[in-house]
Amino acid sequence: MSRLKDRVAIVTGAARGIGEGIARVMAREGAVVALWDILESGEGTAESVHRSGHVAVFTRVDVSDPARVTEAARGLRDRFGRIDILVNNAGIASFAPFVDMTEEERDRVFRVNFNGVWNCTKAVLPGMLEQQYGRIINVSSVTGPRVGDPGLSAYSATKGAVCGLTRTLALEVAGSGVTVNAILPGYIATPLTEPMAEELGMSVEELERRISDGIPAKRMGTAEEVGELALFLASDESGYITGQEFVIDGGNIIQEKTLFYSD
Ligand SMILES: NC(=O)c1ccc[n+]([C@@H]2O[C@H](COP(=O)([O-])OP(=O)(O)OC[C@H]3O[C@@H](n4cnc5c(N)ncnc54)[C@H](O)[C@@H]3O)[C@@H](O)[C@H]2O)c1
Repeated sequence: MSRLKDRVAIVTGAARGIGEGIARVMAREGAVVALWDILESGEGTAESVHRSGHVAVFTRVDVSDPARVTEAARGLRDRFGRIDILVNNAGIASFAPFVDMTEEERDRVFRVNFNGVWNCTKAVLPGMLEQQYGRIINVSSVTGPRVGDPGLSAYSATKGAVCGLTRTLALEVAGSGVTVNAILPGYIATPLTEPMAEELGMSVEELERRISDGIPAKRMGTAEEVGELALFLASDESGYITGQEFVIDGGNIIQEKTLFYSD
């Protein structure tokens, strides 16, 4: 399949989890995919994409470091001539009641989840405007923009901020060939569940079972399913869609009452 043939894409936080799923789907569709992550295991992820016959390059980039982000974007543009797609996916979660959430911890989460989106967008948007084509996809969350979750004050604030930036940027660049949209995942099975399980004092398997029980679709989503949604937003076919938020959650947040962690 080749819906992204000749496109050059950056996926941040692509060593594992949702970012890896998005990178695999985009590479399958013919894009050259740059995997940016702080985890060296991103190298293995890129090699595995490569072995399946697609083009992927890993670069160690901390998205919270603007100088490193600018350097990496320049390197990619020098090598492949353009950057068409940016998926701002890298993110971290931090669990603590608001009264215990320190300002240092809040800032740590903001530096990755919000400043990271800002830094990467700053680095690629001028080139996209110049070439009159671009797709920016921000991975936010249902938590913050749509629903609350006790213990996730800093996290949900970052995700709300990402949605605000998405809409404003979409308007600023509307008509230029660049679109900016957000994906709001619900529960997706990734290693991000591990700190949540630890916080709740249960195994990952137990937590995933209990979460799945409460979701109308009766299961957690997969990283590849998020990848398929990102693929549409990255494709030529989505050119008239901008500034929008797309929830992918198996019907979870439309319920009047949820029963998570109820016993
Ligand atoms: N898994 C879910 O249920 C879920 C739900 C809603 C939103 N999200 C969002 O989806 C995104 C991906 O989450 P995930 O579940 O795949 O998590 P994950 O922890 O499995 O993957 C996140 C990746 O981001 C990388 N990363 C972290 N800090 C970074 C930094 N400073 N620079 C570069 N890379 C960095 C990590 O190394 C990791 O590879 C996050 O933004 C998260 O908030 C996830």
